[in-house]
Amino acid sequence: MPQRRPCCGVAALNTFWGERALIGLAALMLVGWMGARVAGRRPYDESFRPQFHFTPPRNWMNDPNGLVYYEGEYHLFYQHNPFGSKWGHMSWGHAVSRDLVYWQNLPVAIPERNGVMIFSGSAVVDWQNSSGLCQSSDPHDSSCLIAIYTGATSRRQNQNLAYSNDRGRSWTVYAANPVIDLRLADFRDPKVFWYRPGREWVMVVALPPQHQVRFFGSTDLKHWTALSDFGRAGGVGGAWECPDLLELPVEGEPGETRWVLSVNVNPGGVAGGSGDQYFVGYFDGTRFQDESPGTQVLWADYGKDFYASTTFSDVPLSDGRRVWMGWLNNWEYAVAVPTTPWRGALTIPRVLTLRRFPEVLRLVQQPVIELRALRGQHVVVVNQRAAAANHALQARGMEGDTLEIQAEIDPGDATEVGFRVRKGASEETLVGVDLRKSQLFVDRTRSGETSFDPGFPGRQVSPLDPSRGRPVRLHIFVDRSSVEVFANGGEAVISDLIFPSAASRGVEFYSLGGQAKVLGLDTWKLKSAWEISRQ
Ligand code: FRU
Repeated sequence: MPQRRPCCGVAALNTFWGERALIGLAALMLVGWMGARVAGRRPYDESFRPQFHFTPPRNWMNDPNGLVYYEGEYHLFYQHNPFGSKWGHMSWGHAVSRDLVYWQNLPVAIPERNGVMIFSGSAVVDWQNSSGLCQSSDPHDSSCLIAIYTGATSRRQNQNLAYSNDRGRSWTVYAANPVIDLRLADFRDPKVFWYRPGREWVMVVALPPQHQVRFFGSTDLKHWTALSDFGRAGGVGGAWECPDLLELPVEGEPGETRWVLSVNVNPGGVAGGSGDQYFVGYFDGTRFQDESPGTQVLWADYGKDFYASTTFSDVPLSDGRRVWMGWLNNWEYAVAVPTTPWRGALTIPRVLTLRRFPEVLRLVQQPVIELRALRGQHVVVVNQRAAAANHALQARGMEGDTLEIQAEIDPGDATEVGFRVRKGASEETLVGVDLRKSQLFVDRTRSGETSFDPGFPGRQVSPLDPSRGRPVRLHIFVDRSSVEVFANGGEAVISDLIFPSAASRGVEFYSLGGQAKVLGLDTWKLKSAWEISRQ
């Protein structure tokens, strides 16, 4: 038999002590790994840790900032306290993704400096180096990333630039900051976009206590001219923050578009505390004209936990989608949310369009299809009443804390239909439709840990257009500590945090007051987007 020659480094260990050391090391690693698994200590596996929503590795986060697509990567910056799990020392945290599903954490992009905090703002690709801040060595591409953010002290908020010439990996603060200073204590959250017809940059920025936004124009991102103001209007129960302005297509009407002005308001949101309202109309490069009839306030999300939404800039035209994310939280209790070592999460990314209703154009949101990559075990039920549908779900072991449910329901003579998710011995979260009131709802009264704030338990409701009637379509995402439901193709959306015990994993369909039927029910277990290899 030919002799096998030990290869390379292994040869050096091929001694009595070497072997023992190797076995010992392997055993230690195994015990350590098993210990970590048993104690649930793999990264992103603490209790309540979302498995497919973005959360920072540790410490506080609030608003998404500077969402921008550049050179194959989606950049996500966020309001972050690098030093603790409460709001403070605000800086821009940073993560990137190639698909909006798997995020890679990067170091803090723009830190608080000399007592000036880095508040919310946006980022754009300066394709033509209009700012002169890009230093590309590529003769065919003079672009770079520019961030436009609010510099904040207790007495002054003004607008500033930072730029990056290495795909967002390092950032330089513009030497001649601030670029807009109105000497105000409240003036924040600039969102900038390229207004093609006028060939200039447009900024929309909030004057929070006045319940107004102001538009500015610029050709170089450094020098800005005031264009017009909008407001006060709509929901004015609290400060106006984090505005966004974007043009969206009207579904089924080729060539038809409108402009949507989204304005977050805190407090005074539709479900109490923080909320996101929007106006639909026209923008001519100078002025936004609200076209919504009447005085009805339009809300993007009727849940308690959708705030500070902002859209991605520079998604390629070949893709064409407008995608946004919001902070999955509410200033009412954000600081008390029982999670550690992080606090704060973002919603799943959602695609935006407009849909025509008899009296008004409404914002429609759909989860990005990239999330389908996480679908695992799948159970399909067709044409069944509750008992048979639930029997099928149970028989196939369909339960868990990370689920996607897509259902088409014929309510029959039922007065209420829906799902119980995160169901345990004494806990459940209801996601359903009240047919008499034509309302979508999430009820988290008995969802689990709710005692950290008196306003947390309760039911959030959203109107549903009764003319769309039947069947009812629900698309639900459950992720450890949240529920997001998109009804009737995204016409009504509710996003809510929940904190159930780990053992509450059941899911079932129910109907009250009559017999409903699922015409089609797809349920998936969703995999974690936070694999160790991606950290
Ligand atoms: C919204 C907000 C913004 C501000 C940021 C500070 O949640 O209040 O207006 O820029 O948070 O963290």
